[in-house]
Amino acid sequence: MTIELSPMDTAKFVAAKQATAYVESGMKIGLGTGSTAAWLVQCLGELVRDHGLQIKGVPTSNRTAALAREEGIEIITLDEAKWLDLTIDGTDEYDADLNLIKGGGGAHLREKIVASASDRMIVIADASKKVATLGAFPLPVEVLPFGMQTTRALIADTLIGADVLGHDVIQRMQGDAPYVTDEGNFIFDLHLKRIGNPRQLAMVLNQIPGVVENGLFIDICDVVIVGHGNGRVDVR
Ligand code: 5RP
Repeated sequence: MTIELSPMDTAKFVAAKQATAYVESGMKIGLGTGSTAAWLVQCLGELVRDHGLQIKGVPTSNRTAALAREEGIEIITLDEAKWLDLTIDGTDEYDADLNLIKGGGGAHLREKIVASASDRMIVIADASKKVATLGAFPLPVEVLPFGMQTTRALIADTLIGADVLGHDVIQRMQGDAPYVTDEGNFIFDLHLKRIGNPRQLAMVLNQIPGVVENGLFIDICDVVIVGHGNGRVDVR
């Protein structure tokens, strides 16, 4: 039985499939989180099971770890790996400098740690993720539960002086309950509309006590593989 993919799933799948060309036996690979990264894990699983590819994966979320195990990919911790050859992950936005907003799936803390401990980060995306200026997608900021309303007020104060258009700081929810990350923290989504200076904003947000990590990835991504609904792939 052949399953017809939607144009969006085709775009994600072809980007993920293309990314596997960068993977070699013996590599330690950071495995991203989200629907595009899930295609990657499935493509890698097929290569492991059917083509003898030997890799060790460091998953960036409990979801990805579960999928990787199902796919027969050997899982190790980042501390066991120490350093990775490559991380492949999705994104919520990328700009012409390959700066990113990530964390739509709530995993940007582990994703940033893992990508930063890799020789190379490849992002896989459908074409809708490309933006001229970052910020239309709400910027996720992971915060400690302790004193979170104080942290929220400090974030709001910081945004007053920042080069952004919107200022709403909204706690992420899952149904009626606060969304909790794999690390047991909460997320504020910052509705900024436009981020004029992502590098500076990333730095000032992380200086606020209680902020664990923001979703801006500056100078971390090396390559973006863009999939299209008609099966075409561009590499940037
Ligand atoms: C998870 C992420 C994802 O990579 C991002 O949200 C993109 O997800 P998708 O591939 O489902 O569009 O940053 O924290």
